[in-house]
Amino acid sequence: MDKIVALCKRRGLIFASSEIYGGLGSTYDYGHYGVLLKQNVKNEWWRAMLSERDDVVALDSAILQHPRTWEASGHLAGFTDPLADCRTCGQRFRADHLPELQCPRKPSKPPGDGPECDLTEARDFNLMFETTMGPVKDAGATVYLRPETAQGIFVNFKNVLQFSRKKPPFGIAQVGKSFRNEITPGNFVFRTREFEQMEMEFFVPPAAASEWYELWKQARHDWYTELGIRADHLRLREHDAGELSHYSSATADIEYLFPIGWSELEGIANRGDFDLTQHAEYSGEKLEYFDPQSKQRYVPHVIEPAAGADRATLAFLVDAYDEEDVGGEQRTVLKLHPRLAPVKVAVLPLVRKDGQPELSREIVSALRGRMQTEYDEGGTIGKRYRRQDEIGTPFCVTVDHQTLEDRTVTVRERDSLAQQRVAIDALAGVLAARLAEPWQSPKLAK
Ligand code: GAP
Repeated sequence: MDKIVALCKRRGLIFASSEIYGGLGSTYDYGHYGVLLKQNVKNEWWRAMLSERDDVVALDSAILQHPRTWEASGHLAGFTDPLADCRTCGQRFRADHLPELQCPRKPSKPPGDGPECDLTEARDFNLMFETTMGPVKDAGATVYLRPETAQGIFVNFKNVLQFSRKKPPFGIAQVGKSFRNEITPGNFVFRTREFEQMEMEFFVPPAAASEWYELWKQARHDWYTELGIRADHLRLREHDAGELSHYSSATADIEYLFPIGWSELEGIANRGDFDLTQHAEYSGEKLEYFDPQSKQRYVPHVIEPAAGADRATLAFLVDAYDEEDVGGEQRTVLKLHPRLAPVKVAVLPLVRKDGQPELSREIVSALRGRMQTEYDEGGTIGKRYRRQDEIGTPFCVTVDHQTLEDRTVTVRERDSLAQQRVAIDALAGVLAARLAEPWQSPKLAK
């Protein structure tokens, strides 16, 4: 993980937020390449959820919602983690995570086991961030930053049903920020207090819920492997009865083998009719579906695949990270699926003279608009290749002396390091075709 964190900082993908003020506990900012990478992850999610289906529609609901939302959903009463304080060091810990944590005074021991530790009894701590709506800070003005995007979907069920003209089975998908006042955030962007979720609520006739639960588990698992995650680093783990949330009759986690061990990447839950029933009760609105064919009225059941955009981005980074020896020199390379790579092609003049920069810029103009393209003329060619390898650019196009004679360029491939001579006129077509080819992680062969 340290190597991933260092690479992300070095190349400006992801770095500590508010750095000039010394940072703000486990909040992160995404720089240029990080934005492009996470955007590609989200685009791939939208592609799988929307573009490749006709039974899911999109939504972007507000982060601030009516406080009754969180009463109905159970978050106000029950979205808590057990918290224990240490009277000696003043630190706070997740009481149910103590064995995995370190005592700040004696890091070889978990909190509570050090000679001077003095932990309080665990008490419930609500993870929702509170804020105040409007200029007066009285009790009635308290609102919450949403702790999940899902509830914005449930409260809009009736709206969406009306304007989308869909009928169950159909889904509503949303991507957006969520906030949780995590007691122990950490492991880079794995657990933060502000993060992005990619959630889809799929409404089905009650009798079809189990079948759709199975289908969505498989579909979401396959989404990761199709984007290059190695299958032996991914697993589906069914929750046992003791682990299930109050609303769920079945839940499975898609787990990835992070450097911190197998950890949740995404959850797929069969939420039954819990959410629609609760919101119907608290709002007084009927949240149900009337089937004109069977003349039956029912509350749809919900299958929910809930993923984290930051956590998925971290998994793709971890899975892609590689170090190898090339001609006696070590190169660090992100072997990302080309569809996820922040930059698809870099155009590099061999020297900064003889008309090479001008011709390179001409090539950049022709490629730009078709694929994310970068121009780089700074430093030796070896240094520039290494820079592109580190951000996972699948192709580098080099303009050299020969280019000026015969209008051909060298295309260097990130994974195999193979080089091919291609005519400038054919370049955009060749690269587009290569980017569309099926791809699997070269790390599988190792
Ligand atoms: N609506 C259901 C729900 O929110 P969840 O398992 O709490 O379920 C779904 O969250 C996903 O959101 C997780 O699998 C994870 O990828 C991401 N996530 C949750 N908490 C997070 C945090 N503190 N930091 C980063 N990602 C988080």
